[in-house]
Amino acid sequence: MATGHRQLTQGFLMKQRRLGTLSVPAIGLGCMGMSAFYGATDEREAVATIHRALDLGCTFLDTAEMYGPFTNEELIGKAIEGRRDDVLLATKFGVGTPDNPGLDGSPKNVRRAIEGSLRRLRTDHVDLYYLHRVDPHTPIEETVGAMAELIREGKVEGIGLSEASAQTLRRAHSIHPITALQTEYSLWTRHVEDEILPTCRSLGIGFVAYSPLGRGFLADRFASADEIAPDDVRAHNPRFQGENFELNKRLTAKVRLIAEQKGCSPAQLALAWLLAQGKDIVPIPGTKRRTYLQENLAAADVELTVEDLTSIDAQLPAAAGDRYPAAALGTIDH
Ligand SMILES: NC(=O)c1ccc[n+]([C@@H]2O[C@H](COP(=O)([O-])OP(=O)(O)OC[C@H]3O[C@@H](n4cnc5c(N)ncnc54)[C@H](OP(=O)(O)O)[C@@H]3O)[C@@H](O)[C@H]2O)c1
Repeated sequence: MATGHRQLTQGFLMKQRRLGTLSVPAIGLGCMGMSAFYGATDEREAVATIHRALDLGCTFLDTAEMYGPFTNEELIGKAIEGRRDDVLLATKFGVGTPDNPGLDGSPKNVRRAIEGSLRRLRTDHVDLYYLHRVDPHTPIEETVGAMAELIREGKVEGIGLSEASAQTLRRAHSIHPITALQTEYSLWTRHVEDEILPTCRSLGIGFVAYSPLGRGFLADRFASADEIAPDDVRAHNPRFQGENFELNKRLTAKVRLIAEQKGCSPAQLALAWLLAQGKDIVPIPGTKRRTYLQENLAAADVELTVEDLTSIDAQLPAAAGDRYPAAALGTIDH
């Protein structure tokens, strides 16, 4: 953790934002790493982190069927037992599980997946149900039509898409209002600004920014690529490899410098920057531990001026390397 960072103040009150018709905390909690993809896990600390999040008003929890698979939803179900009414639960379906590999947005899979998610999450409804990746073999109209059925049945409150193109968003929204798009967005991943974010804004669709800390890189989590275990997916991410890792350290150095000038940590700067991009943006930083959670929530109190934002734009070099390996990039809707 960086030395100087903004602390949570006494009586910290989480600010609220809107995603479509949902009122959510300005910063949510990404729970994926608590069970999958990012190295060692610790269930006790993960549950304590979720409880601390709820106590601090960070009630927007993000998970997916494929995190684990299944175990992340089970962890959350266990952690929120008895506190369901305090939580806004977001989960996702449509990306391969062991018995159904590949992308599947078919109505049949919509109906299968929700039942499993509700069971594991120990609830009768989810607040935001996302299609995790657009299935090129199922027209989006059919997927969204089946998801809208779940709303009518009271199993789902709002519909979301993840990593959908502007065109898919428009088609989906014509079938049923889309509450939110969840897509990667951060200081080093800004492609959504060209077409996707403006489309969300023109349709009134909220935007949930995933990997807002650049999978930890922007938060200064790693000094060297050697710190990343071979079974951590980031070991296979182009931005975390060899020469790219070294080049990207220039980016972290800049983020650290600007953060110091603002009296906050790099993670807080990265989150404050996202919050300053528009009231419709809700970052969901991921962490497995209470210390980072608290640091991240305090970013809601870091104010960036127009001059700060201009200077950040002028100073930050572009990231070296694609945001995903080629196979994963191939599943992204264009
Ligand atoms: N829709 C999608 O396709 C998709 C894809 C990826 C992620 N997501 C969602 O988005 C959430 C967030 O994304 P992400 O987890 O990939 O990336 P992220 O939020 O950008 O970064 C998470 C990493 O940053 C570290 N970290 C968190 N706070 C920190 C701090 N204050 N200082 C230093 N390091 C810090 C975490 O460390 P520790 O783990 O050690 O706490 C973790 O390694 C996920 O949990 C998941 O729910 C969605």
